Amino acid sequence: MAVGATRGLLRFLSYGSGKLSVMHAITIDQPGGPEALVWTEVPDPVPGAGEVVVEVTAAAVNRADVMQRQGHYPPPPGAPPYPGLECSGVITAVGDGVTGHHVGERVCALLAGGGYAEQVAVPAGQLLPIPQQMSVQEAAALPEVACTVWSNVVDIARLRKGRTLLVHGGGGGIGTFAIQLGKALGATVMTTARESKHAQLRALGADLTIDYTAADFVAETQRFTDGRGADVILDIMGAKYLDRNVAALAPDGHLVIIGLQGGRRGELDLGALMAKRASVSATTLRARTAADKARVVRGVRDQVWPLVDAGTIRPVIDRTIPMAQAAEAHRLMESSDHLGKILLLP
Ligand SMILES: NC(=O)c1ccc[n+]([C@@H]2O[C@H](COP(=O)([O-])OP(=O)(O)OC[C@H]3O[C@@H](n4cnc5c(N)ncnc54)[C@H](OP(=O)(O)O)[C@@H]3O)[C@@H](O)[C@H]2O)c1
Repeated sequence: MAVGATRGLLRFLSYGSGKLSVMHAITIDQPGGPEALVWTEVPDPVPGAGEVVVEVTAAAVNRADVMQRQGHYPPPPGAPPYPGLECSGVITAVGDGVTGHHVGERVCALLAGGGYAEQVAVPAGQLLPIPQQMSVQEAAALPEVACTVWSNVVDIARLRKGRTLLVHGGGGGIGTFAIQLGKALGATVMTTARESKHAQLRALGADLTIDYTAADFVAETQRFTDGRGADVILDIMGAKYLDRNVAALAPDGHLVIIGLQGGRRGELDLGALMAKRASVSATTLRARTAADKARVVRGVRDQVWPLVDAGTIRPVIDRTIPMAQAAEAHRLMESSDHLGKILLLP
């Protein structure tokens, strides 16, 4: 039977005395390759206390979704089982105790999971307004990257005007946002990426682009900063870059590690860190409590959204792909051939 017909039949199943409505979501029955992502009929979400349900216009792909698909990053307790850490859309239901939001409101949202679906329930504290002069669809590219970058680079590492920022993986979703936020704050921004992406990253504001496949980013950072090093380093490589990141830090610098693409266990030279009075943090956004996420979202709304509203920071969207073909989006992300964000449309 065709998917549409099945969906028609299942749309309003009689379920005991009540009604069970169904939607589509990407499910993962067995962790594995991109083919593990299957567009499936599942029950509609119901808003819990303090939550709203959003009918999804678009969701964005994150590296964490790839890890979840592979079985390495289970959703936190209470989160929807489907992948997807950010989305945009329209509120269709409001749970008990929610104030300040209404059915029909256009929003984007930071999620603990469940964005790869036609609908998702989300705590109201994780909603953000659609920025001015931006389509609902485009806004799906922002919540996860804005919250991750702001919480690490600003809230933790205190990047400010006149300082230097080194962004690893400048061509990714996180990287393209971090470059723009760093520039908007008045910092000098250096970034690592494959050479094919350099022109676009300079157009986003990067002052120095380093081809990590051909050059030593420590030497390049030291040269560009007259031997001082970077005040803040936003790292996605983990163990593989740990030594070199400490070597590239400025005195009183802060290394914030948010990704483990180069492994999780490394050796930290504490003497080198002490000599620079430097700090190392490692954080993950998804594991924060809903209350802590709401605090981060408030910080983003207050400090980042005005920059987005003004057009100083814009979403960088590589392409959109039908959500039912999420496997194709994951193949693209794993190839790293994309620049910025990949959107999924239900
Ligand atoms: N902790 C958190 O809360 C949190 C939240 C969101 C994301 N993250 C992490 O942040 C990282 C980036 O996420 P994303 O969604 O932006 O993924 P993405 O779009 O796939 O970006 C990753 C980038 O890494 C680059 N890259 C690969 N190897 C590299 C190397 N050796 N040195 C420098 N760059 C390299 C790739 O581009 P090229 O190789 O082509 O230059 C690619 O653009 C992931 O590790 C993700 O798990 C963490």
